[in-house]
Amino acid sequence: MCPPDYFGIEYEINPWMNVRVGSDTDRSRRQWGDLVAELEGLGATVERMEPVSGLPDLVFTANAGLVYRDIFLCSEFRYEVRRGEAEHFAAWAGAHGFEVIRMPPGYYFEGAGDALFCGETLFAGYRFRSDVRSHQWVADRLGVEVLPMELVDPRYYHLDTCFCPLAPGWAIYYPGAFDEYGRSVLRDRIPNLIEVAPEEAASFSCNAVVVGRSVVLNRGASKLADSLREAGFNAHPLEFSEFIKSGGRAKCLTLRLDGEEAAAWAHGE
Ligand code: ARG
Repeated sequence: MCPPDYFGIEYEINPWMNVRVGSDTDRSRRQWGDLVAELEGLGATVERMEPVSGLPDLVFTANAGLVYRDIFLCSEFRYEVRRGEAEHFAAWAGAHGFEVIRMPPGYYFEGAGDALFCGETLFAGYRFRSDVRSHQWVADRLGVEVLPMELVDPRYYHLDTCFCPLAPGWAIYYPGAFDEYGRSVLRDRIPNLIEVAPEEAASFSCNAVVVGRSVVLNRGASKLADSLREAGFNAHPLEFSEFIKSGGRAKCLTLRLDGEEAAAWAHGE
């Protein structure tokens, strides 16, 4: 995670961002700190990256890259305003024992924002940020099965805004963010899919952090919290009002260093 010292709404690259709204520094620091405390309370170890002035979205470490075992596949950002982040993420990963891999020029790939393991399979969103070519490149480079799915609603511009793996064979998703093909892929490949209601999806409830059976998400997603409970998971609601102004919630603020498929390992599979 990266502290929100320089977080702000300084440009508009998704429908949630409005430079005239801005964000409150104290409140974002508090909300970010609450997430750290919650995750540590759940037994996670949180590594903190150094924030960098002039990079307001560096706080969204989900977009740093994709971690797969000891490989860090660095993001290639779609928008110029975020491109300066890549060297900081790559440097951090290199200094922490990862083999850092960069994609060839011309590819767009926004890391764990758009590429999420559910079990052994990598589910990959494309169109608004990552492109489909990059996902094919990832499949070849990592030798894993990748299922690219087109995202169709600009409000759900990253896969992690509308899809969240919980455990092998388990995930939550918002159907309206996918086309018919994407929905059928998800239904065919994930036996236990929890559907998120449109109003709860619109408050980014799919953007959740999973630690074992605990799911950290935004406040107010009571239907999803009920569904999670029935499925044997616990919802841990927190306030993220400052970060939704930038189009992010819990999950965007984190990158799993033990890999997105860590949920599988935690379940002993
Ligand atoms: N303002 C950031 C952007 O538009 C938000 C990134 C949210 N990250 C995520 N993984 N969904 O790029």
